[in-house]
This record gives sequence, C-alpha cells and structure tokens, in this order.
Amino acid sequence: MTGTGQGKRVGVVGAGTMGSGIAQVFAAANYRVDLVDIDDERIDDAIGRIRASLRKLASRGVIDPAQVDPVLDRIEAVEDCRNIRPATLVIEAAPEISNVKQEIFRRLDEAMPPETILATNTSSISITDIAAATDRPDRVIGMHFMNPVPAMRLVELIRGAATSDGTYRFAEAMVGELGKTAVEVQDYPGFVANRILMPMINEAICALVEGVASAEDIDRVMTLGMNHPMGPLALADFIGLDICLAILEVLYESYSDPKYRPCALLRKMVDAGYLGRKSGKGFFNYES
Ligand SMILES: NC(=O)c1ccc[n+]([C@@H]2O[C@H](COP(=O)([O-])OP(=O)(O)OC[C@H]3O[C@@H](n4cnc5c(N)ncnc54)[C@H](O)[C@@H]3O)[C@@H](O)[C@H]2O)c1
Repeated sequence: MTGTGQGKRVGVVGAGTMGSGIAQVFAAANYRVDLVDIDDERIDDAIGRIRASLRKLASRGVIDPAQVDPVLDRIEAVEDCRNIRPATLVIEAAPEISNVKQEIFRRLDEAMPPETILATNTSSISITDIAAATDRPDRVIGMHFMNPVPAMRLVELIRGAATSDGTYRFAEAMVGELGKTAVEVQDYPGFVANRILMPMINEAICALVEGVASAEDIDRVMTLGMNHPMGPLALADFIGLDICLAILEVLYESYSDPKYRPCALLRKMVDAGYLGRKSGKGFFNYES
C-alpha cells in the first residue's frame, strides 16, 4: 500500500480537538478517513467543527465552496479502532495518558495489516514506550501536529528507538502531501515544541498566582512585547488545561527536574473542570 493513488485511506483514533483537525486535513488531501471515538457525541461535535472550519475556509476563498461536502463525505465514523478498514496510516489522537495510548496501539496492531504505519499525535509521551505495546515498533512513529491542524504548517516527526528509516520517509512524504513541513525530532519527553512551550506557560501561571500582573497583562507582555501571536494564558486555554497539565507531568516525571513542576493553580483548575476553551472557562471566559 502507498499513500498515493487509488483507495487512499487513513484511520484517526480520537475525535477531539486534534483528531478532528487531522481528519479534516487528510480528507481535504483526498484521503478517505475512518474516524473513531469512544464517545459518539464527540464524533458529532467533530463533524460539526470540520464543517464550520471548511465553510470558513470557503468564505475566505482558501478552498472552493463546492469542495465542502465532498471533503465531509470522505470522513466516516467507525465504532471501534478494531473496525478501521485497512489503511496506509492510522493516527492516534486520544488523551495524553500513557496506558490509554498503549491499549489503542495494542488493538490497532492486532487489527491492521502488518504494513500499516501506526502514528501517535502525543505531545510528550515516549514513542518508544507506545511502540513497545505492538509487534511492529519499526512501523510506529510520532506525528505531532500543531493546533489548529488546518492552519499550522509544522509537524514534529519523532523517531522512537526502533522507528525504521522507511517509516520516517513515509511519514515525511505524508506531511509533504498535506502541504506541511516536517521536522525530525528524537524521542525525548516533550520533544522540542512542548519542552520549550510548557515551561513558558507554567511560568505565566506562577506569575499570575504570585500577583505579578493580571492574566490580561501577562498575555499583553508576551503579545505586544515579544510579538507572540497569543499570550501564554490564552494559548493554554486554547490547548486545553488538562493537556497542559498532562504534558508538564510527563516532563516533570521523565526528567526528574523541578523546573517542570506543574503550578498548583493549573492542577486546581483542571480538578474544577476549568479546561479552557473546550469547557467554556479557563484563565479567560468563553461562555458567551
Ligand atoms: N490540544 C492541543 O493543542 C494538542 C496539540 C498537539 C498535540 N496534542 C495531543 O493530541 C492528543 C489529543 O489531544 P486533544 O487536545 O485532541 O484531546 P481531546 O480531549 O480534545 O480529545 C481526545 C478524544 O479522544 C477520545 N478518546 C478517549 N479515549 C479513547 C479511546 N480509547 N479510543 C478512542 N477515542 C478515545 C475522547 O472521547 C476525545 O474525544 C493528546 O495526545 C495531546 O497531547 C494536543
């Protein structure tokens, strides 16, 4: 099987923020996409988000309005990851929890033909550990898309200890087909993006706790002063505070370094269900 030509098909496991974006960009690149989630409502929400995103792109002239329905038609909900039809690539975008990802990979390994490449969109968990749940660690790779997937051009490609050169080249070609740029990264916790980004977000939360400035002003310093397109607290809300906490915990535990210790306020907000945009409240309010 190859990524090009007739019968192009991928599977996406997890239909949340990232899975829906990944499904959208593959469908827009003419792939048929089998989309799986344990929660049916999340699939419905994902299809709604993809439709809204495609319509917005059409209204801006980025895509032909006639393409909206055909792209949506290429995405099909599938009940369980064992039911994904034979695909060249399956990408997992389930929560940032090691044993959840390992269980998904065990199932995918049983269900998919041996040549299928299995990728994870993890932000921080070891690719080597996830690959060890399968009998094909050479065909497992990290494909770390950025949020929002349709807009962001970078994909970190992470080689696990056993990832073969062929798997890397396949993933690199896929990223190219999506019109994005791949960066090769070795398998260290947080890779490059989150190893640098999460300490900045955590420090912004600590500054907020210490009363150095208001949330608005902390973000203003970074947008107006550093030319960042979003402030760190708005960005944390956008990523999801649960995801930020999970990544910081992986960094803290893996490096045994206190510089990654999650700020207590972040944990408290996650415990309270304030997860950022997706729950309507985080450091800022999105309910209206
Ligand atoms: N949010 C971001 O900005 C961002 C950016 C890059 C990478 N990531 C990574 O992408 C992954 C997904 O993050 P997200 O923000 O989309 O999370 P999310 O919470 O929005 O979505 C996760 C989805 O997975 C589903 N799910 C849970 N268990 C499952 C299972 N066993 N099988 C199938 N589906 C299951 C949930 O119902 C949910 O719909 C994480 O590993 C995260 O670290 C997130």
